[in-house]
Amino acid sequence: MSVIIAGTGSYLPEHVITNADFESFLDTSDEWIVGRTGMKERRYSDVEPTWKLGEHASRKALEAAGIDPMDLDMIICTTVTNDYAFPSCACMVQGALGAKNAFALDCVAACAGSVYGFDMARRYLQFDDVKTVLLVACESLSQVANFEDRNSCILFSDGAGAAVLRKGDGYYGASIHSDPDGAQHLYYKHPRRGTPFYPADAVFEGEPFIADPLGALVMNGKEVYKFATAAMPEAVEEACVRAGVAPDKLDMVLPHQANQRILETAAKRLGLPMEKICLTIERYGNNSSASVMICLDECVREGKIKTGDAICLVGFGAGLTYGAVTLEYKDS
Ligand code: ACO
Repeated sequence: MSVIIAGTGSYLPEHVITNADFESFLDTSDEWIVGRTGMKERRYSDVEPTWKLGEHASRKALEAAGIDPMDLDMIICTTVTNDYAFPSCACMVQGALGAKNAFALDCVAACAGSVYGFDMARRYLQFDDVKTVLLVACESLSQVANFEDRNSCILFSDGAGAAVLRKGDGYYGASIHSDPDGAQHLYYKHPRRGTPFYPADAVFEGEPFIADPLGALVMNGKEVYKFATAAMPEAVEEACVRAGVAPDKLDMVLPHQANQRILETAAKRLGLPMEKICLTIERYGNNSSASVMICLDECVREGKIKTGDAICLVGFGAGLTYGAVTLEYKDS
């Protein structure tokens, strides 16, 4: 069983942050950022909450699919930057859409989230009580970035992408993994408030990761880079084997946009020219799980993927998580 991608949508907040904007308060340069990451601009949501970004993208996906929110059976939202610890971001999007017949839940797998969510949707679609799933990835990494760390803050951004998914036929293969041994290389720790009976600043002795004093994410860029350059092609290869497609026969790869150099290294290993790797990184930076869904939407709308094409969605991120899904693209 495979999945039909009945409609896609995306939303990028209006506020453009250029590399020059970072030069005003950090020891960095446009030349360094473009050369080491491929990024020129990114978008920040400012006051708009994460669920709102998700709502915008979802409405476009529903419109493209030609369906009413009431037709949705399930909403999977992928985010690491939910505005609320509870309710879930999926419930917030559900409420905004008025998708009263759906049940909604979040899938938290960092930048691999939308790939995890895609595969999760396919598994639910195997049963007759779920016929139409909205997968929405929405993120506001600007809200957890460390603006005193030039290694990391220049990378991250905000945005959302969505797709309406239904049961379909055609080939499908997934490769979904997590490796907690590398978790210390990328994390964001919630502060503890303490209680009237115990102080907030007490530290549990077995706590593996120390919270950043600024309340921001912590990243070891070199280690994440090493992990990503190996994990990305590995996941694509495994998903392709399971789908019965040779990696060099893929028509389009829709990858998480972490660093252009990671994508170039992976393309080389997979025997694919860069034209077959969707790139939005120059314009949007790294908006975590949203980036794969934004790639999907742009490729569908620009006619870069057509019915019958072999496509591969691939992501990797905190956890460490990584995964890929290879399938025959069909929209009906
Ligand atoms: N501007 C100028 N100089 C910088 C900057 C900057 N913004 N950032 C780092 N440098 C300096 C470093 O301090 C270092 O200087 P030094 O040699 O004097 O110590 C020098 O540049 C080289 O630093 P490296 O860390 O070796 O640079 P590298 O080429 O590895 O690039 C980067 C760093 C971009 C962070 C890279 O390691 C990377 O992309 N890693 C993956 C990060 C990532 O993808 N994270 C998220 C993925 S998962 C998710 O999306 C949640």
